[in-house]
Amino acid sequence: MTNMKGKTLVITGATKGIGQAIAEKFAQNGVNIAFTYNSNAEVAGVLVQELEAKYGIKARAYPLNILETDEFKPLFEAIDADFDRVDFFVSNAMIYGRPVVGGYGKFMRLKPRGLNNIYTATVNAFVVGTQEAAKRMEKVGGGAVVTMSSTGNLIYIENYAGHGTNKAAVEAMSRYAAVELGEMNIRVNAVSGGPIDTDALKAFTNYEEVKAETIRRSAMNRMGSPNDIAGAVYFLCTQEASWITGQTIVVDGGTTFR
Ligand SMILES: NC(=O)c1ccc[n+]([C@@H]2O[C@H](COP(=O)([O-])OP(=O)(O)OC[C@H]3O[C@@H](n4cnc5c(N)ncnc54)[C@H](OP(=O)(O)O)[C@@H]3O)[C@@H](O)[C@H]2O)c1
Repeated sequence: MTNMKGKTLVITGATKGIGQAIAEKFAQNGVNIAFTYNSNAEVAGVLVQELEAKYGIKARAYPLNILETDEFKPLFEAIDADFDRVDFFVSNAMIYGRPVVGGYGKFMRLKPRGLNNIYTATVNAFVVGTQEAAKRMEKVGGGAVVTMSSTGNLIYIENYAGHGTNKAAVEAMSRYAAVELGEMNIRVNAVSGGPIDTDALKAFTNYEEVKAETIRRSAMNRMGSPNDIAGAVYFLCTQEASWITGQTIVVDGGTTFR
């Protein structure tokens, strides 16, 4: 198995849901964790303590608003002061609530402002975050980047046009990044999740319906959990995935085909 001990993961939005499960998965394997939070500073502080106490790794939390892309440069400078290397970057954070008004909804109600916010949070955040991470990965001989996508870019999900189209865009952007960062020995992939039981999904106006339908469609007869996604993200960052780049791995319990 790959020795991941002493490497560093930078991940956006690890206070809960999928991001937290990913941070925990890497920490379990001896990876140091630099993660960001937005509104939940207190939760972030507790998570730092838990990760360090449970897994004996170094963890630090940093504030970041992915809608303010100028914040990525100082974020990575702050990470440089705390960690001696960056090996992995996971672009995970996603906006919700007011910033997605006009972006989350039926097609006839979509508004440029909401759609642009989702583009910024999805594609721009991936681009600027990966640029900063890649400069650091190059110095240590390479690394791996994973962006979170969603099967809502493959199948119709009610109210999800804004997110689904931007997930399609970030998958395409990750393929472009994969081609151009390959010479730095950096691999870039996407993990496309089916509906996963997190706060983000609970914010769907038809959450109960989506949940029931996901269980019905899934070959595994259950909802997806954040850990289901974390395993795939972790695998893509290990040496076991050393020739996988420019790909999207769909982790959906079989729901998309059905
Ligand atoms: N849940 C699903 O069904 C599903 C399926 C496929 C893909 N995904 C993708 O997986 C990723 C994580 O989703 P999730 O369900 O785990 O979401 P979540 O539970 O709602 O967590 C969102 C995370 O993003 C952070 N965040 C929110 N607004 C932010 C902002 N403006 N700037 C920076 N960070 C911000 C939050 O930090 P604070 O708590 O500090 O505010 C939190 O850590 C997203 O990219 C999502 O699209 C989710």
